[in-house]
Amino acid sequence: MTYEALFEPFSINKLVLPNRFVMAPMTRLFAKDGIIAPETGAYYRKRAEGGVGLILTELSVVDREASHGDPAMPRLNSEASFDAWRRVADDVHAANGRIGLQIGHFGANSNPITGWLPEGRIDSVCGFDNSGSPLGEPMRDSDIADTIAAFANAAAQAQRIGFDTVEIHAAHGHLIDQFAWAFTNRRTDAWGGNMSGRSRFAAEIVRAVREATGPDFPIIMRLSQWKIGHYEAKVAATPAELEAWVTPLVDAGVDALHGSQRRYWEPEFEGSDLNFAGWLKKLSGKPSITVGSVGLSGEFMAAYAGESSEPRSIDGLYERMVRGEFDMVAVGRALLSDPDWVKKVRDGRIEELRAFDPSAFKTLS
Ligand SMILES: Cc1cc2nc3c(=O)[nH]c(=O)nc-3n(C[C@H](O)[C@H](O)[C@H](O)COP(=O)(O)O)c2cc1C
Repeated sequence: MTYEALFEPFSINKLVLPNRFVMAPMTRLFAKDGIIAPETGAYYRKRAEGGVGLILTELSVVDREASHGDPAMPRLNSEASFDAWRRVADDVHAANGRIGLQIGHFGANSNPITGWLPEGRIDSVCGFDNSGSPLGEPMRDSDIADTIAAFANAAAQAQRIGFDTVEIHAAHGHLIDQFAWAFTNRRTDAWGGNMSGRSRFAAEIVRAVREATGPDFPIIMRLSQWKIGHYEAKVAATPAELEAWVTPLVDAGVDALHGSQRRYWEPEFEGSDLNFAGWLKKLSGKPSITVGSVGLSGEFMAAYAGESSEPRSIDGLYERMVRGEFDMVAVGRALLSDPDWVKKVRDGRIEELRAFDPSAFKTLS
């Protein structure tokens, strides 16, 4: 099988991408004092040279006290940090690649793998974490306004230092997702209530980012139903709720939605084959990106527990894309073990695709 449609160009706002493959954002934990490691540019550049259409970086947290989930995570709180990211963008552009910075805020979450918590005041929607245990301070209106401004500033800086787009991380149980999820958001003010009320925080962030970056700068937002450690969670139980979730984001100016699943082939709602990205596209009218075990037999959280994955056919994925279910495909672990994964798919060298071994987490190469 050949996969021509995956190698057709695609545009998000004014950004023209050479093909449909996106490198999924992956936290690597090689930063020191919030500044990414010097090898980071070469690491991303290698994937650009390997044919990835759009690289999305690991999560970089916005400038709020205790917004990070690990001491080795990049933080957008110093000029030195932006300078280091600028060099990464330059490296990727030198290989004719495109790169977007993923920006986010961990919220009231301890690190799911290590249990680590930052020092300082932790922003929380209602004063508890995703399991209902007390954590953090419920955000006042002033905290919410400052956090929205921190996202806008992070995006404006990303644009200034040469990134082609930003992806706002509103998934996996981090702060923005905690606002969207009824379990963590029990507020009765304008930031809570029904689905559109719970979507307001995300929408105001999109609006502020749009205002800070202008009409042409592509804004991607990543959403998920599942949360780390709470895989059956649903922010939206029905398509109507999902529509109420995404409509404010579209009105605020988002350009594309990235539907995070652990296995892209799982249908989102009963009675339809559509996956999460499929529903996002259908209900928002915006382009969508799918993700989750593309090209691999096992899913990514099991990889943290040491599980390897074998190569898996992408024929079913391709058929879905050709049907128009989603527009782009993000690939995570397969690109960690094999920087040339996209090139191999393009050239039909399927038998050369590598298995994923979790030892790939240990090096930034
Ligand atoms: C090591 C690692 C770090 C990750 N860090 C992030 C992150 O910073 N932001 C994010 O949105 N998703 C993160 N993810 C999830 C990936 O973006 C992706 O959705 C997931 O790995 C599924 O894709 P895959 O099955 O192709 O690996 C991470 C995944 C892995 C394996």
